[in-house]
Amino acid sequence: MTVTIVGSQLGDEGKGGVVDLYGDAADVIARYQGGDNAGHTVVEDGTKYKLSLVPSGAVRGKVGVLGNGCVVNPKTLFEEIDTLREKGLDPDVRVARRAHVILPYHRVLDNIEEDVKSDTDIKVGTTGRGIGPTYEDKAGRRGIRVGDLLDPEVLRKRLEYVVPQKRALIEDVYKVSLADVDDVIGGVDVHDAFDVSALFEQYRRFGERLDEEGMTVAAGDFLAETIDEGGEVMFEGAQGTSIDIDHGNYPYVTSSNPTAGGAAVGTGLGPTTVGRGEVVGIVKAYLSRVGSGPFPTELGDVDEQIEGSGEGKEYELATYIRDEGGEYGTVTGRPRRVGWLDMPMLRHAERANGFTGLAINHIDVLAGLDEVKVGHTYTLDGEVLDTVPATTERWEQCEPNLKTFEGWDDVDWDVVAEEGYEAVPENAKTYLGYISDELDTPVYAIGVGPGRDETVVRENPFEN
Ligand code: GDP
Ligand code: IMO
Ligand code: MG
Repeated sequence: MTVTIVGSQLGDEGKGGVVDLYGDAADVIARYQGGDNAGHTVVEDGTKYKLSLVPSGAVRGKVGVLGNGCVVNPKTLFEEIDTLREKGLDPDVRVARRAHVILPYHRVLDNIEEDVKSDTDIKVGTTGRGIGPTYEDKAGRRGIRVGDLLDPEVLRKRLEYVVPQKRALIEDVYKVSLADVDDVIGGVDVHDAFDVSALFEQYRRFGERLDEEGMTVAAGDFLAETIDEGGEVMFEGAQGTSIDIDHGNYPYVTSSNPTAGGAAVGTGLGPTTVGRGEVVGIVKAYLSRVGSGPFPTELGDVDEQIEGSGEGKEYELATYIRDEGGEYGTVTGRPRRVGWLDMPMLRHAERANGFTGLAINHIDVLAGLDEVKVGHTYTLDGEVLDTVPATTERWEQCEPNLKTFEGWDDVDWDVVAEEGYEAVPENAKTYLGYISDELDTPVYAIGVGPGRDETVVRENPFEN
């Protein structure tokens, strides 16, 4: 069977931890979209692993697959594999030959486009990893696929076609003179990034390494065989529903489909295969957001936090939750925007994904607050909405109607995790019950800390 793990909010809900939690029963863990914009954390016996491209099952020694829906930067993939090897793991990663390759010019263009938008309200705050430009080329039928890296003639032909276009784009549209520009943008050497020969040499070598290590597969066939032979497959979604390119708050989104339908399209298995399995929505008990976009339940102003000029109750609360939850960007250290749980957003996610179960994380982070609030509905133009409007402009205008819950004490969460659901503080149970009832979906797991053992497990979807 299959279990699909999906972010129900804005990313960073704790998907990596849940993949790790249930991953023991899986034979293969497959990513179906996104690339190294993801940062999934697994904490095993106090050791923290940050994974961007390697599927989180690597910590348990499971085979990982990067499906055709992913965009793969071979450089970061190999660096990550090498780093994990140094940490004593032995990642076995197979990459779909149909997956698209992130090239250095994609990163440069991602960063330049963000720069151009910097004074506008359409700046997305991307991760700068070249994700959007790579998916653009995929849709524009000028992309380079992993399979192309294995065939030097094809690789050269594709580069000869596409690189002059990229050069013209950067010089003629963005008016950046490659002769004058800084040597490094977005972590890549700008001059090599637009040079066919340099790119060919570098990417041909990546192709050779992928080939030598037997890493490329026809992912759909590989996964179908695993299932036919009675194996268990887990799909590891990256990002989250509200930054899905179709179902999120466009244009403040990523360029792929984190929603559950993506698991079929992005791996080469049918929707019936995914649908016969379980779809587990991962929920952070509050909300965090990296980057721009609407956030009706936001607390405080993150810019004031950065400047250190904020004040007031909301500001203090935001700072408290941010600190307790470690809500700081892993790369930049930039404080993340935080706010209360947004129920219209979750109702939208439940419908778009068809969740069969929920894992609700970070219950420990809210512990100790006198009261915990939830955006139960929105009011827009005098009308009460229980789900999100389809345009981002209207979403931005929504006022949340807050519902207040009594807080719960900060208890010894290790003991709670060991004793199980009965030991969860009553007020937290009320909160969890509310979420479950509103979404008409059972709670399979409750995160009470970052570690694998810091979870209250009520059901294992592989056993259903
Ligand atoms: P992902 O991108 O969805 O995999 O999530 P991230 O790894 O980016 O962010 C989640 C962060 O919260 C990580 O640092 C996790 O170790 C941590 N985390 C996950 N679940 C819990 C939880 O229940 N409680 C606490 N305190 N931290 C958690
Ligand atoms: P995980 O898998 C949170 C956000 C970026 C930006 C927008 C577009 O760890 O949950 P992109 O680089 O994808 O073009 O950026 O999406 N974003 C994430 N936010 N978690 C993520 O991944 C994210 N991946 C992208 O901050 O707002
Ligand atoms: Mg993350």
